[in-house]
Amino acid sequence: MDVIIVNDNIEGCKLGAKIIADIVRRKNNAVLGLATGKTPIPLYDELVRLHNNESLDFSNVTSFNLDEYYKVPFTNEGSYHYFMNHHLFSKINIKKENTHVPNGMVDDVERECIEYEESIKKHGGIDIQLLGIGRDGHIGFNEPSCSLASRTRLEALMEDTREANISDFGKLELVPYYAITMGVGTIMEAKEIVLLAFGESKQDAVKGLVEGAISSMCPASILQMHPNVKIIIDNVAAKKLTKVDFYKAKFKITRL
Ligand code: F6R
Repeated sequence: MDVIIVNDNIEGCKLGAKIIADIVRRKNNAVLGLATGKTPIPLYDELVRLHNNESLDFSNVTSFNLDEYYKVPFTNEGSYHYFMNHHLFSKINIKKENTHVPNGMVDDVERECIEYEESIKKHGGIDIQLLGIGRDGHIGFNEPSCSLASRTRLEALMEDTREANISDFGKLELVPYYAITMGVGTIMEAKEIVLLAFGESKQDAVKGLVEGAISSMCPASILQMHPNVKIIIDNVAAKKLTKVDFYKAKFKITRL
């Protein structure tokens, strides 16, 4: 696990975008695992800038999103379909048919989840998975106590997660109670993982992720078992870590 400490979210998101852009340039048909939420918005802005100004080509790229709310129409501004079209897909030259976001509107959820997993496999697996982290340590919508081997499925959202997402829906009563999410086991199969976390509200989650014991009570802590993970955090999110000097020294010899 490489812990990369930056000054702020903009610096961190530019770095995250560079890591993703390098893979898109290097691998003709890269498969990207994408996240939503407030954290990666500047990263998507940077990918759009690289597309416009530096000819970053997404025409052969395939994407799979982590999650989508259950029974929220794609036209709802809180839905992750809407989010991805708004922040990224409509602004770059990715083919619509190459983008995948779980369909929370289906009746047969089990089948949707199985097909989502199969589609990831059919495309050769995810080359790089982008992650944020919830205040409670969730990745995707894998909430504390979930199986660390879980696959794509319907999951209930914790109250804290629903509260954190009020701004997407206007008021708590409108925030969905359920979502389809890639499982922790699904995420762990990505060849490379980049997780972004910024600000005070993520301090405890980052502490659990980087220096805590591996536990389903902090699902992100399982990333300690992944061979190729970069954790990009700002100084504030890093506040509760005890080995910051070591992480900074190690970063000096990390090739990005
Ligand atoms: C989003 C996702 C979630 C978020 C997390 C942090 O697709 O899977 O795990 O990454 O809830 O959200 P923000 O970035 O809004 O703090």
